[in-house]
Amino acid sequence: MDREIATTLGELERKLVELERALSAIGEREQAASAWEPSSAGRLVDEAVETPRGDGPAAPVVPGPATSVAPGPSAPPPSVPPPAPAAGYGGGYRAGSAIDSRREPTAAATSVPGPGARHEPAGDRAPSAAELLRFRERLERTARELTQEYDALLGRLREPAAAPSRQPAGGTISFARGAPSLDIVDVDGLRQAAARAFDSDPGGTTAYGTSIGYPRLRAWIADRHGVAPERVLVTNGSMQADAFLFEHLVHPGDDVVVERPTYDRTLLSLRERGARLSAIDLLGDGIDTEALARLLGDGRGVRPRLAHIIPNFQNPAGHTLSMAKRRELLALASQYGFLVFEDDPYVALRFSGESLPTMLSMDPERVVYASSFSKTVCPGIRVGYLVGPPDIIDAIARLATNTYISPSMVSQAIVFEFCASGAVERSIETVRSALAQRAAALAGALRREIPEAQFLTPEGGYFMWVTLPPGADVDRLQKLAADRGVSFVKGTDFMLDGGESSLRLAYAGVTPAQIEEGVARLAAAYRSL
Ligand SMILES: Cc1ncc(COP(=O)(O)O)c(C=O)c1O
Repeated sequence: MDREIATTLGELERKLVELERALSAIGEREQAASAWEPSSAGRLVDEAVETPRGDGPAAPVVPGPATSVAPGPSAPPPSVPPPAPAAGYGGGYRAGSAIDSRREPTAAATSVPGPGARHEPAGDRAPSAAELLRFRERLERTARELTQEYDALLGRLREPAAAPSRQPAGGTISFARGAPSLDIVDVDGLRQAAARAFDSDPGGTTAYGTSIGYPRLRAWIADRHGVAPERVLVTNGSMQADAFLFEHLVHPGDDVVVERPTYDRTLLSLRERGARLSAIDLLGDGIDTEALARLLGDGRGVRPRLAHIIPNFQNPAGHTLSMAKRRELLALASQYGFLVFEDDPYVALRFSGESLPTMLSMDPERVVYASSFSKTVCPGIRVGYLVGPPDIIDAIARLATNTYISPSMVSQAIVFEFCASGAVERSIETVRSALAQRAAALAGALRREIPEAQFLTPEGGYFMWVTLPPGADVDRLQKLAADRGVSFVKGTDFMLDGGESSLRLAYAGVTPAQIEEGVARLAAAYRSL
């Protein structure tokens, strides 16, 4: 089939070449005859330049050099003069060649019959230059359209066959991923920070470094938290920080308090370590400290090593721990001798309400703090950190050395440059304002599309926790939603038990328009339950 099409296109091209020759010949003949009236010839050329090439009936114009036909993907650059007729399909009809051939014989353009030209009845007279030009125009247009159509067909042939999908066009809208969309990542800023890192500290950036992290970034973080650098350890993402902390502190059978619901990866990691988990309900203002106090005081002997708390815009619920509860929690930690693990990657992303002090700043000896640049800069950079009592940081630094010698100095040097230049503040502002819009869009769409859904609009962060009326089977909803091209994470993934009627919607990776469409799809899936 390829060969046949090529032959046809080659034939077309041959016709164009013949036509050019005929026009040139007529041009030469008539130029001599009509040398007395050059201005009328010029007019046709002017019209050709002024008259846009439309898709309507072929206009009697000669396209000037400014008119171009974009070569198809496989077309070579225009060549002058037109090549000999293609022998077979040598990579596509040379659309450009037809155009260039127009430029060449200006004689054709100057060969329009002047007022003295004879007008013979059509059919039995030789065609005039204008007629030939009109015909050439049509021929070129046809060739161009065919070429484009052919290239498109060929392109589709080369694409892998798409799997049959029941999903609507436009792809899946994901409320599942807790990651920023590309439009709110400062790629240019990161590129420049990388260049500065290699320029200003090529040795430190390319070396192994040490397990405590890139020293300049460590110092920058320490300064931010108002602590000595010895209290800081910079890791490959805060997930790595969590893993080190758990490896150091949590042994099989140890009691650990977690929020209910909580970040699914923490839950998994603690379970795999054999920790005995006590899941305490999360309320609108954070963990239920009264329930925790009851658990600790009821004589069952629960004595946690640590309590894992996500204080700001919690993952998955989006709730924030109130000031009163921060104090109560620290008081319980002090009374019962456990550490608070303050897991705080979203703290900078508040878009409404008042910021609250970290528990780290309230009791630095009782708190191990983790945060991350994943949510404010980008997750791919994989830079997070721990702040804690020096003995814990020292022990974890040894663990880190034995695990990977050192974290990525390249990533950390880039993050340092990004922070030191102030780009991080601009990035935070960009992310924060996008999140504010997206959270508002999500809340509005949910109220409109699924009025029975219950949720608290978060004051920051990435997530919204949605609870449907009792009996709503979110497991089934997830499948029905997937069929309609929308994804989310089920509530049950964030709990040891329960959560069957709840789901987490992450809005950081979707634009307001996608949110509208995604919620409409979700609502359709919900109504079909
Ligand atoms: C509460 C919490 N902790 C830790 C992490 C892991 O972050 P990182 O990308 O820094 O490893 C996440 C990521 O979603 C999170 O939500």
